[in-house]
Amino acid sequence: MNLHATLLQRFKSALTTMGQPEANAPLSRSTRAEFGDYQFNGAMGLAKALKQNPRQIAQQIVDTVEVDDIAAKLEIAGPGFINIYLKPAFLNMWVSEALQDERLSVARQPEQTVVVDYSSPNLAKEMHVGHLRSTIIGDAVVKTLEFLGHNVVRQNHMGDWGTQFGMLLAHLSDQLAQNSVAETALSDLEDFYRAAKVRFDEEPDFADRAREYVVKLQGGDAQCMALWQQFIDISIQHSEEVYALLNVSLTRDDIMGESAYNADLSQVIEALKSRGIAVEDQGAQVVFLPELADKDGNPAVYIVQKSGGGYLYATTDLAAIRYRNNTLHADRTLIFTDARQALHFKQTELVARKAGFIDASQSYEHCPFGMMLGKDGKPFKTRSGETVKLHDLLVEGVERARALLTERAEHTGEQVDEQLARKIGIGAIKYADLSKNRTTDYVFDWDNMLSFEGNTAPYLQYAYTRITSILRKAGDVGQPAVSITEPAEQTLATKLAQFEETLLAVSAEATPHVLCAYLYDVASHFMRFYEACPILKDGIAKEIRDSRLALAMLTANTLKTGLALLGIETAQRM
Ligand code: ARG
Repeated sequence: MNLHATLLQRFKSALTTMGQPEANAPLSRSTRAEFGDYQFNGAMGLAKALKQNPRQIAQQIVDTVEVDDIAAKLEIAGPGFINIYLKPAFLNMWVSEALQDERLSVARQPEQTVVVDYSSPNLAKEMHVGHLRSTIIGDAVVKTLEFLGHNVVRQNHMGDWGTQFGMLLAHLSDQLAQNSVAETALSDLEDFYRAAKVRFDEEPDFADRAREYVVKLQGGDAQCMALWQQFIDISIQHSEEVYALLNVSLTRDDIMGESAYNADLSQVIEALKSRGIAVEDQGAQVVFLPELADKDGNPAVYIVQKSGGGYLYATTDLAAIRYRNNTLHADRTLIFTDARQALHFKQTELVARKAGFIDASQSYEHCPFGMMLGKDGKPFKTRSGETVKLHDLLVEGVERARALLTERAEHTGEQVDEQLARKIGIGAIKYADLSKNRTTDYVFDWDNMLSFEGNTAPYLQYAYTRITSILRKAGDVGQPAVSITEPAEQTLATKLAQFEETLLAVSAEATPHVLCAYLYDVASHFMRFYEACPILKDGIAKEIRDSRLALAMLTANTLKTGLALLGIETAQRM
């Protein structure tokens, strides 16, 4: 159930009954317990418009609104805030229902087809930290959208085309001629790229051959295509290793690389030309965008075809829009890349809308993210200043988690569980990224992310395990009746009832950090509840114990489901 929307609807109806417009009805979660659970803040605005006393208007709203089934009391505070206190009976019922429902009472939303373009590494090189962010954030949003009932189409828009493949293929064919096996030659894509680049810059013959390869590749030359395919396959395998380690849901079927659009590129240009949108400028085809003029009034220039006839990243993105519209029937498109590409997507959207490739009912949402920084505040690099290979980074995370577990095992004499080390190490890396507002840069810090305290994956994973251990000790209690009496129980139950509205916020804004903050709140409220309201202690009446166990169960289910949506695994024992 969407608690926020339900309450809001009641207040809107009240305004309608009062003969007032329902448009401006701000309802928010209260920030402090003394302000109740939710707060309706519409009285002040309305009073101003009507030139009346805000507290009187608030009183009228309180008298009119019908929330007896949900709220225990409404209280007018300050200049006309209406504090809403939820009713324990309502929460009792809600907790019981959610406990019996796999979906934790989260309603399926009216289905939309949502295309999510994420990960999308460039296959000429090793995946880097920018693709880590895109992969993790994109996958969390994908899982949330699917849980909410949407038809999600994953699109891995891999960079598998472009002039740099000329030099790479020329170098690869030389390596193969020298008896080297493609897998070995390409075992380190970063080294391979560097070697090819050095030759391209220093050997004129090689550079000529590289350029020939580009022409051949574009012409679809069979031998050249076979070589290219070999390169692409091996590079995709590198990405797949990272996906497997990361527990990310992308498969081969989700790959729709740049090359997949080659056949449509000339038609994109034709469509833009025939509609008078693209015009020739110094031999190139360009779109002038007065909407994005500079301060002197010169329109932005968006190039769709180079003067030599070559196509660009932009042309491919326009073709992708056509495919996602005509074939996938996307209602929404989300694209996760770093913030530096913001202008590109803004321009692309403008051009696509002018050309009618998408209509007003379809969204095109670039979801930018900031940079991952080292502890020195500079872009994350190895000590020698090289780009960090994702694979190495993930392996290090697991090793560090294993070291932590080993240290602990020395005290308890237990064996270190390899699966657990992986869940903690990978979970820590993913959560550290997901829990930050994606638009800002963030500092990658092993010690923080692996800490068992604070807003971290290990803290949440551990909280989950603690609750399951309480439930194990309690044994089977069936479907206990819920009866909330203590404030700590009420706060926890209210938090749990906010799961759906949290997921809706993640889905609307593509912001998994909202879910992270929510889960952290849930876990912290549980700890406070557990301290104030003992469960398994002697002398606790059976009804109270069972009711508290019900709250514990729903907390565990919420943490597990929420973490799974973030792509983070939980463990029964830790
Ligand atoms: N391959 C690009 C990069 O690494 C990201 C592609 C994002 N998607 C898109 N449709 N342009 O920067």
